[in-house]
Amino acid sequence: MQDAPPKTRPSFSIDEDRPSDWFEPLYSGASKSGDGVPWANMDTHPSFSRWLDVHPVSGEGKTALVVGCGMGDDAIKLESLGFAVTAFDVAASAIDLCKQRFPESTVEFLQADLLEDQPGWRGAFDFVLEIFTVQALPPKYESQLIESISDFVAPEGTLLVVAEVSDEARDFVNGPPWVLTPDHVEAFVSCGQQLIETTAETTGSHVGKATYVSEFRKRATGAD
Ligand SMILES: C[S@@+](CC[C@H](N)C(=O)[O-])C[C@H]1O[C@@H](n2cnc3c(N)ncnc32)[C@H](O)[C@@H]1O
Repeated sequence: MQDAPPKTRPSFSIDEDRPSDWFEPLYSGASKSGDGVPWANMDTHPSFSRWLDVHPVSGEGKTALVVGCGMGDDAIKLESLGFAVTAFDVAASAIDLCKQRFPESTVEFLQADLLEDQPGWRGAFDFVLEIFTVQALPPKYESQLIESISDFVAPEGTLLVVAEVSDEARDFVNGPPWVLTPDHVEAFVSCGQQLIETTAETTGSHVGKATYVSEFRKRATGAD
């Protein structure tokens, strides 16, 4: 398994006020083998895979949510660990590809928008996985996205966030991707997460200076 190569800027323009619109045409032109999807690993994301190697997880009797699931491989990995998995993406064509690729899977692959309220998912998942979705949207959405992702985690549940990071100021003209700054870790803490560990990976391909893999535990309701 290889780290995905650095992402390339799409050839079309992105409307900052409709920041997710370009994903549907991208996936509708893609194939089941991932052609046309620059970030497709067609396997468990390498950073998630390395994290699992040192943090064995059992999902028996537990729920998991995959944010911006893309081609679906990370959801399948969580299913193999025993979780009852929900995985969503804004692009209906991405969800179609997941269903075509994994017809036997029990993962609930759903089209849904992280920018819209999902009240039924609030506090509903024992394990939430976020890889490269926050950085896929312009900087002005960062706080909203971080708050929504944090909200999905059940009390005492685990949130794993994989993000490319640099120290550069985030600006609309500099993306996509709009790589995060190290401050994103503190932003998750401000949304009710306790930081367990952050690892900065500096080997492999990175658009920023490193890939941060951060594990959080959701504070129990009422805890400091
Ligand atoms: C850079 S890709 C990463 C995909 C996947 N997590 C991976 O690591 O391969 C970002 C994903 O977020 C999805 N996405 C973008 N905006 C979204 C939104 N508002 N709600 C849900 N998913 C979104 C895109 O369709 C895309 O699949």
